[in-house]
Amino acid sequence: MKILVVGSGGREHAIISAIVRSKPDAEIYCAPGNGGISDIARTVPIKQDDIGGLAGFAKSEKINLTVVGPELPLSLGIVDEFNANGLRIFGPDRSSSLLESSKQYAKAFLQRNGIKTAGYRSFTSFDAAMGFVENKPHPAVIKANGLAAGKGVFISKSIAESKKYLDLILNKKIFGEAGETVIVEDYINGIELSYMIVTDGNVYKSLATTMDYKKAHDGDKGENTGGMGSISPHPLISRDLEESIKRTVIDPVLNSLKKEGTVYKGVLYAGLMIKDNDIYVLEFNVRFGDPETQSILIRLKSNIVELFESCIDGKLDAYDLEFEENNSICLVMASSGYPSNYETGYEIDFDGVGSSTADIYNDKNFFIFHAGTKKKDGKYWTAGGRVLNLCAKGSNIPHIINTVYNAAEKIHFKNAYFRNDIGRNVWMP
Ligand code: GLY
Repeated sequence: MKILVVGSGGREHAIISAIVRSKPDAEIYCAPGNGGISDIARTVPIKQDDIGGLAGFAKSEKINLTVVGPELPLSLGIVDEFNANGLRIFGPDRSSSLLESSKQYAKAFLQRNGIKTAGYRSFTSFDAAMGFVENKPHPAVIKANGLAAGKGVFISKSIAESKKYLDLILNKKIFGEAGETVIVEDYINGIELSYMIVTDGNVYKSLATTMDYKKAHDGDKGENTGGMGSISPHPLISRDLEESIKRTVIDPVLNSLKKEGTVYKGVLYAGLMIKDNDIYVLEFNVRFGDPETQSILIRLKSNIVELFESCIDGKLDAYDLEFEENNSICLVMASSGYPSNYETGYEIDFDGVGSSTADIYNDKNFFIFHAGTKKKDGKYWTAGGRVLNLCAKGSNIPHIINTVYNAAEKIHFKNAYFRNDIGRNVWMP
């Protein structure tokens, strides 16, 4: 069986690692991949937004299954293009992907279906947006409508700050087309968490819960990032809360999609805010979270290839999705300065841990997934903001925390940076 994974991050490395465990004889390709992925899959230099190129490759190589990691190709219609060419692909189609690629679309969908979300207005004109925020209580949330690589959301504490963010997005166009429309949203001060499910368009199954560390620095300080770490299960999602999330968010969302004629297949990630026992949907992602997926998939007991296939075939009902009864952690090693300005191109020295790949090292419970790396002349080099994901699983929480932090101290590259409180702040406060 030939499998193509689209993407180049730690999430894709973790997906490929799970595919290797599920189907050791599969021939795996990754476009474009990264340094670590190149050790366990054949990397193909096709960019994730080159939909025609990816479809052409899948056709000529007779790829049996394609799995899409990031949102960009989904929003560009990779699934529609592959389906039109008779190619099997896991992920939602272009119109379903609007739930992530247009915040305005997602908010309107939630409102018209009576699903709780923060109140909002959308604007294309700076003056009209200013007229609104000048009379709005602050804090307020200002968001670019389109895809902005996790950087498009600002919490504004004052009218002056709102003016600065609106100017950056609408006048200075820092997000390009993605910022042509701006959403100004009510700020809800509650507990933020996320919940991921996988669906075949008929039934859904919940993924293991996970907590993402979005902020750059310890104590949840600093800029929003794509995620600096994750732990699973989520320590705050009790069985009762999980049932409420399903009843008040997941069921109505999937029923509303069906009612509106959308057959949603793939992963749906709901970003939620909980306040006074009410659950609000803040946003959707139409894909696996990164780095949430890394801590989830190392706990996966079931066969991931069968999961993808059963979603495509509408047979998820008969699929048994099981996770190990343990805990897991993912620590992101980044280039200092991420997510703003950072340098790349530095050699990564793995000598201290004896392995550079996702291969299970030592006690079979420690994994290295590569994100922004490339391999050249047999050596690994930094090539992005998030560089490596150090992951561990087990029932002994202090042990898994120590495993990833000891490894982080032994892996060296210039300007390496990581948070010191992943897992520790909730498991060992
Ligand atoms: N970690 C958040 C995301 O994947 O969007």
